[in-house]
Amino acid sequence: MPVVTSFRWLSEEEKYERFMERINAGEKIEADDWMPEDYRMTLIKLIAMHGISEIMGALPEKEWVPKAPSLRRKLGIMAKVQDEMGHGQLLLRVAEDLMAPLGKTREEIMQDLFKGDLKFHNVFHMPAPTWADAGLIGWLVDGAAIITQTNMLDASYGPYARALKRICAEEVFHAQHGESIILALAEGTKEQKEMLQDALNRWWEALLMFFGPGSAATTGTSKQDITIKYRIRTKTNEQLRQDFFTKYVPRILSIGLKLPDETMHFDESKGKWVYKQPDWNRFKEIIRNNGPKSKERLRLRELSYHNNAWVREALSGQSAAV
Ligand SMILES: [Fe+2]
Ligand SMILES: [Fe+2]
Repeated sequence: MPVVTSFRWLSEEEKYERFMERINAGEKIEADDWMPEDYRMTLIKLIAMHGISEIMGALPEKEWVPKAPSLRRKLGIMAKVQDEMGHGQLLLRVAEDLMAPLGKTREEIMQDLFKGDLKFHNVFHMPAPTWADAGLIGWLVDGAAIITQTNMLDASYGPYARALKRICAEEVFHAQHGESIILALAEGTKEQKEMLQDALNRWWEALLMFFGPGSAATTGTSKQDITIKYRIRTKTNEQLRQDFFTKYVPRILSIGLKLPDETMHFDESKGKWVYKQPDWNRFKEIIRNNGPKSKERLRLRELSYHNNAWVREALSGQSAAV
């Protein structure tokens, strides 16, 4: 039974109170429901960033479609790239509905990306120079995404939770695809093993950054506090990073790879992994589009957006009939 169905006659304070009752009762909030402004704005930012990151994330792997070492690998990576674009479309639809009452459109999300006002995920600013990087993105970047996204499967915002359900199912396939590439390289020649270790060394810091700074690295009310308060997610950035270590450190070691951090160990007394912090100033620079591949990938995205404008016009019926 819903806690309340009509907010029409309530004062702003009462609306907020009832909204929080719904959140705490585990009810799902839908696009047309009353919601406080900071909930709406947090969701727009989170979901637009997630959607855009799916689309930008397809770019480093797309580079490997023509160079995949066999037909089977080519089909696998092509399917993954298509899935990521589909995830982006699904999420931007969810963001679009949240933006509609503010008079903002999906077009503005793209313009914000091109202007540098909308950030995309730090990992997708990084280069993928070898086939091992392509495999590692599937294995560990998609693996990290599964950890953060399964934490939001029961998100209080219904449309996001439902989109994530489908996305997570496909992400599992991506991680298996990446793992299969990695296992083949780990059992391969000396050169292949070295290529794999180099890729892990190259990606390690970006993987730690993937989960965002811990609360010690942020000041004031952070985004993570708001998302937890509104039950968009339940775990902090640091808890998610620890879950990642617990799942993947044993797997990394079991295939003969070395951790790029010699100080890293599990502290039994504290029940957590101790590791060298990444450079959080560098993280800020990367997401401000000053990473190694930021500008190039943004240019590529902008170019295809303009080149494909005719498709959007044709679908929306704006172009003249011929
Ligand atoms: Fe995805
Ligand atoms: Fe994926």
